[in-house]
Amino acid sequence: MSLTRRRWLEDAFGVPRDGGWIAARGREAWRAGDVAAAQAAASPAARRIRISSNENPLGPGAHVISAITGAFGDASRYPPNATRREGTLIAALAKTYGASDAHVTLGAGSGELLANAVRAFTSPSRPLVTAWPSFEAPKETALKIGTPVREVGFDAGLKIDLAKMAEAAKGAGLVFFCNPNNPTATVHGKTAVVDLVKAVRQASPDTVILLDEAYHDYVTDPAYETAVPLALSTPNVFVARTFSKAHGMAGLRAGYAIGDPRAIAALAAYKMPNGLGTLTLAAAEASLANTAHIAAERARNTEVRAFTVKAFADLGVSGTDSQSNFLFLNIKRPAAAFRDACRAAGVFVGRDFPPFEMQYCRVSIGTQDEMTRAVAVFRTVLGGATTTSRQQQGGR
Ligand SMILES: Cc1ncc(COP(=O)(O)O)c(C=O)c1O
Repeated sequence: MSLTRRRWLEDAFGVPRDGGWIAARGREAWRAGDVAAAQAAASPAARRIRISSNENPLGPGAHVISAITGAFGDASRYPPNATRREGTLIAALAKTYGASDAHVTLGAGSGELLANAVRAFTSPSRPLVTAWPSFEAPKETALKIGTPVREVGFDAGLKIDLAKMAEAAKGAGLVFFCNPNNPTATVHGKTAVVDLVKAVRQASPDTVILLDEAYHDYVTDPAYETAVPLALSTPNVFVARTFSKAHGMAGLRAGYAIGDPRAIAALAAYKMPNGLGTLTLAAAEASLANTAHIAAERARNTEVRAFTVKAFADLGVSGTDSQSNFLFLNIKRPAAAFRDACRAAGVFVGRDFPPFEMQYCRVSIGTQDEMTRAVAVFRTVLGGATTTSRQQQGGR
């Protein structure tokens, strides 16, 4: 691999050039007697802190790991021949939401569903509407297939401008609304979401609306509620969810879309057959069933998020009202310089998010121990810098 590409990977995903990472912290020795795992846990690589990709630092719970090991007998089988099939997970999801199987489809991560939604509902004459910056997959797919993109900005608190979004929807194929939004971490409450959907449907009844709730489990704002019931009762509306965040399964690749059956059927037509493996299906089903584990993960994240927000405030740095497992912080200097300095000390923070990259950086929430150590690095890095007038203007 070329040095430039390695450097790009490192910037984009926090991938170190010289070694791996530890996941499922505290359960490194779950393979009994695995000396390599125990050594890896004690290695310098394990001391690195990756808070760049909004992952759950603990990984999946013990119940999920035991579901995966229990499903190993099916590892040689194609999913339709296994005990846990895609249909089994679809039925479990439908039951969870009081819906029917026709309301649900799966993806190898919700990223697949986002990309396929752009393929299914947009065209060169039916644009994509998205906030920008937001999660990149829809815009990247649109650019690949020649779909025009209408970008929508933010209000003063970096919440998506919903009036502008509804205005831009006229004649669009798809509105992508990420709530909470990545990278700004802000969320809109239930009333605002209902009003947005109403306004889009009035202005443009044929436009499909995709509400991305990847970070749903981390929201603590009482005004917020999931849009799943709205999607189940409104034509052309569906919600995308993932097992990659609070469920801790980003490496296993599972996500789902739920909502209007006609939109779901059109989306499912683009699905990769057997895209979810037998072990992933078993893991997702076990994770879905254990709501107490997800509640505990939300409580853990809320506590460590509050600690990190306060630590940055003590350093004179504030950010948006985070309703997620990451912070979007006005560090008053280029994210690249901050990122490089943190990386030199073993702390990997988020990539650039134009047009905010000259002032803002995204920092994911790790474990309490990781954030305590990361804050010591932030204190050193931020303590020594000054802000130029160019940086204050955001460089654009
Ligand atoms: C808002 C949002 N949606 C979707 C995804 C895709 O996640 P996955 O494909 O792992 O389900 C991400 C990943 O970070 C995200 O931030």
